[in-house]
Amino acid sequence: MHHFKLLASLECVRLLIQNLKSKIGMTIRIHFLPDNVTADAEVGEALLDVAERAGVLIPTGCLMGSCHACTVELEDGEIIRACLTSVPPGKDELTINVFSDPTW
Ligand code: FES
Repeated sequence: MHHFKLLASLECVRLLIQNLKSKIGMTIRIHFLPDNVTADAEVGEALLDVAERAGVLIPTGCLMGSCHACTVELEDGEIIRACLTSVPPGKDELTINVFSDPTW
């Protein structure tokens, strides 16, 4: 019985933290195009990790920002290198267009 109460308390704390994170903008919903795959991500989480967790393949090469194999496009048209990018703060949602570069 004591064990059950402890587990219930831990679950309450987990839900409370999850709720607080979403309220203060620590959790962001990421939409990956063109397949329209959605994943929730934490601010500061590596974009490549979020994509992998969502089952979205972003091609990579050097993982150091040099080769541009991991280039993706944000909803505002900005081109970024996913290997250098983490989930930014201050947004509820982020759309990322994963297009394939025929040279890779
Ligand atoms: S993997 Fe080479 S620039 Fe990102």
